[in-house]
This record gives sequence, structure tokens and C-alpha cells, in this order.
Amino acid sequence: MMKKGMLWIGLLGLIMMMAACGAENSGTESGGEEEQETGETGESGGSQEASGGNGSEADLEIFSWWTGAGEEAGLNALIDLFQEEHPDITVENAAVAGGAGTNAKAVLATRMQGNDPPSTFQVHAGEELNQSWVAADKMEPLNDFYEEEGLMDKFPGELIDMVSQDGNIYSVPVNIHRGNVIFYNMSVFEENGLEPPSTFEEFMEVADELQAAGVTPLALGDKEAWTATQIFENILLGTLGPEDYQALWDGEIAFDDERVVEAAETFKQMLGYVNEDHASRNWQDSAQLVSEGEAAMINMGDWAKGYFSNDLEMEVNEDFGYFAFPETEGNFMVISDTFGLPSGVENEDQVKQFLALLGSVEGQDTFNPLKGSIPARVDADESNYDEYGTDTIEDFREASLAPSLAHGSAASEGYLTKANQAVNIFVTQGDTERLLQSLESARSQE
Ligand code: GAL
Repeated sequence: MMKKGMLWIGLLGLIMMMAACGAENSGTESGGEEEQETGETGESGGSQEASGGNGSEADLEIFSWWTGAGEEAGLNALIDLFQEEHPDITVENAAVAGGAGTNAKAVLATRMQGNDPPSTFQVHAGEELNQSWVAADKMEPLNDFYEEEGLMDKFPGELIDMVSQDGNIYSVPVNIHRGNVIFYNMSVFEENGLEPPSTFEEFMEVADELQAAGVTPLALGDKEAWTATQIFENILLGTLGPEDYQALWDGEIAFDDERVVEAAETFKQMLGYVNEDHASRNWQDSAQLVSEGEAAMINMGDWAKGYFSNDLEMEVNEDFGYFAFPETEGNFMVISDTFGLPSGVENEDQVKQFLALLGSVEGQDTFNPLKGSIPARVDADESNYDEYGTDTIEDFREASLAPSLAHGSAASEGYLTKANQAVNIFVTQGDTERLLQSLESARSQE
């Protein structure tokens, strides 16, 4: 576990780095209209109090990075539901644009450091919660709340463990996203007589055929580096299997292990199949390449499912299909968005009322069908989910679970920032040795 002093130095570094990248804090002005653009503007919808940024005057300030197309519909629906039940509470949707929290995490770190926490904020289960905020004594335990709300047996035990430290539970999961999925354009596959690949070898074969047919095999939008990191973590999972994948993040397997080297080679090979303008696209822009048929496949967490179905109005298993990332069938890269109670907030009761709703069957079944994720609760009503959802619910029950690096569960935020940088350099330079050395040396600085 990282020492607190080290932690703050790390976070400060992160803040400065993010600030240099132009982190923006969104005001909250839009009136709940869905943005068809790509989520760059930081506007957010839902019922809310317009008060823009820090020092909110609302009773309940909900902080996340769910703004724009493919991101905000679930949250807006949850906020609307909350407002119906609690019309007297003023809510501010303080979302900061940028996939995977690219900008939001830096804004949050600044606020937490300045003792100006939002009433509640989006945080991934796992190290992002535990090493950043729990270790720094910035979160309140929620054990009593879990008891009062009868939540103890409503989430999978493994998930509760991911949001717990030393017997204390620190947040409430609203969903489970899956990271090891490839979505594909079904007509493109059909026109080219292709079947979904299940091994790396098959993937390369399919990709070669697509390339020969003039279609970009794999869409990538790594304007924000996490999208490429996500591909690499899935290759690592496929190459190492779930136990050794975990052992890698636990420091028990070195980055010069021959299977890790092999994974880096596979990564390089896959990157040979992406669209040329990948560095100028974000995840939504790259998913659009698939919807338009310019690209055939995309590896994206299943928030892309929400985007395809709800924003682009594509039909699951008609317009777009899905399959497990090669060699990861039977495994589940878990990304769970959770919300907690930061220390020092004035409106604890209102925060708990919101957490109670997002932890409830009704809350989860309102949020998740729009978000593309599955409910974190074990007793949600499956009739609310389409074929993708019910398939994923079933897979989640049976699969071996693996924590995502790109989405904050496998390693600390400081490590992830360095890993994203190393991957970003790798995407342009293709130097596998340098990539693995950077990942190893970042680890030794932990
Ligand atoms: C993940 C998050 C998802 C989704 C995605 C893209 O980190 O868990 O809910 O928002 O980023 O921004």
C-alpha cells in the first residue's frame, strides 16, 4: 500500500499533468437534450441546478464524466427518477467531459485536495477507490448504510471486496461494464463472408481479409490514450489467462516474461490494422466508423453498446454484433462504476438518499439499460435488458473476473497515468522493449 505522503505527491503530479492537457470543468447548462456530437463539450442534461463548477449551492452535487453522447442518458434518467422521489432536493449534475475520466479525475483530485469534495462522485471499484481516496482518509465507511438498506447480500461478494478496505465498505456499485468485448458491423462481416474470430490467429486472418477488401479492420480513437491501453490489457488477459493476468498486476510476474513479450508483439500486430486517423478521434468518433461500415470492429467497453443502441439507434444482433475479445472467452474484464460518501460533505442524508436509489433494483434497472452495462445487483429484473444485456448477465455469473487497468481497478491512478503514457508512445513508435521497460519501471516507482 502506498504511503499517504507519496500518494499526494503522485496525485499532485497527476493534477499538473492533466491541467497541462487542458482539463475542463463543465458548467451545467443544457436542458437535458441528448447531444449527438461526441461528448467534447462538457454539457450535461437532466434535472439540475445550474451553478457551474466548484462550490456548488445545490443540495446534491453529483460528479462524474458522463456527459455527451453514449455517456449521459443513464445518469440523466437516474437523476430524473431521484427528482421525482425527492422534488425538494436540488441536484447539480457536475459532469466533466472526457472518456474514462480523462479530465474529470484531475478536477476531482484538485477539489479533494482543496477539501471541496462533490457530494458524491463516480469512482471505479478497486484501486482507484482504495489507493486514491480511502488510503488518504477521504471517504466515509458505508457499512451501516449497507445494513440499513439491506444491501449486504445484493451484490456479488467479489464486488463488495473491491469496494472494501479493512472490513469497511466505501462505495455503492451502480453497474458492471465489460471491457473484453469486440463490437462489429454485421453487414460488413456478412458481405465479406466472415465469422467472428476467437483466437489471435483468426483475428489476424479476418483483419487481413477486411484490409484486402478496403475496410479498416479495427477502429481506434486514441486521442485519449486509455482506449489503446484497453486493447493491450485484453491481449494480456488472453495471453496470460485470468490468474497470471492478476499476478502481473500483483508484481509476481515480470514484464519481461516471455508471454508478456508475446502479448506486446500481438498488440503491435493488432495496431497495424487500425484507422490512420486514430490519434484525432475519441471513443465515440471511432465507434462511428463501425456504425458507418468504414471499419469492421472495435474493442470498447460496453458503454459503446449504449451508444450504438440509444444514440445511433442500431439494433443489437442485426446492425451490430459482439464477441469476446480473442482468447478471453469465459473471462470478464470488470469495470464497475461506484459512488461513495466523501468525508466532510454537509449533506450526508441527501447523499445517502441518492446512494440508496442507485443501489436499488429500480435505480439500477433505470440506469443500466441506457448505459449498456449490466446491474451490479444480483436480483435486478432481467426483462429490462436486451439480448446483449441478458447474455452479459449470464456470462458475468459464470466467468472468471479480471480487474481492468485502463479503468482504474488493477493498479493505482499514478501507475495508470504512466501506463497510458507508455502505451501512447508505443502506438506511434512500436518499440515493444521500451513499452515493457516503461511499465516495469513505473511499477518500481509505486
Ligand atoms: C469508464 C467508465 C464507463 C464509461 C467509460 C467511457 O471508465 O467506467 O462508465 O463512462 O469510462 O467514458
